[in-house]
Amino acid sequence: MTRILNRSACHCLLVLAACAVAVTAIANDEFEHAKKLYDTYCAQCHGMGRDGKGINSPTMSTAPRNHLSENIGNIPEAEMEKIIREGGLAVNKSVLMPGWESVMTDEEIKGMVSYLYEICCRENK
Ligand code: HEC
Repeated sequence: MTRILNRSACHCLLVLAACAVAVTAIANDEFEHAKKLYDTYCAQCHGMGRDGKGINSPTMSTAPRNHLSENIGNIPEAEMEKIIREGGLAVNKSVLMPGWESVMTDEEIKGMVSYLYEICCRENK
């Protein structure tokens, strides 16, 4: 019994530590703005639920990423920015992930990265 408790306590600490590293602080209004942009530009592939199950996803040869996955927290900030700015090909991923530099400002792209770190690993989505 003690062993089981110890194990789960340890697991909790690991999860917390992983999230603390991944999450950069994001202001409320920045969060709300990114959320709107996401609904407009990203949801058709990544899903209104941010789970990769957008309306386009069933017919796509490469599945859009599930943005609720904790793995998102392990992708370095620079790489996240690059794929959103320049698209999948720029980081050797699928061309089906478009680049958004002509649509979103630099500030909005950075805000989106913070937003994604926030939703991947935090409770209050
Ligand atoms: C037309 C469909 C489509 C749209 C729209 C789209 N994506 Fe993607 N996205 C993809 C696909 C497909 C992948 C997976 C690429 C791969 O794994 O090769 C992806 C991957 C990503 C990744 C990479 C995760 C990783 O594992 O490196 C990020 C971040 C991302 N998208 C963010 C966004 C954001 C933010 C938007 C909106 C501004 C957006 N995407 C809009 C299709 C789309």
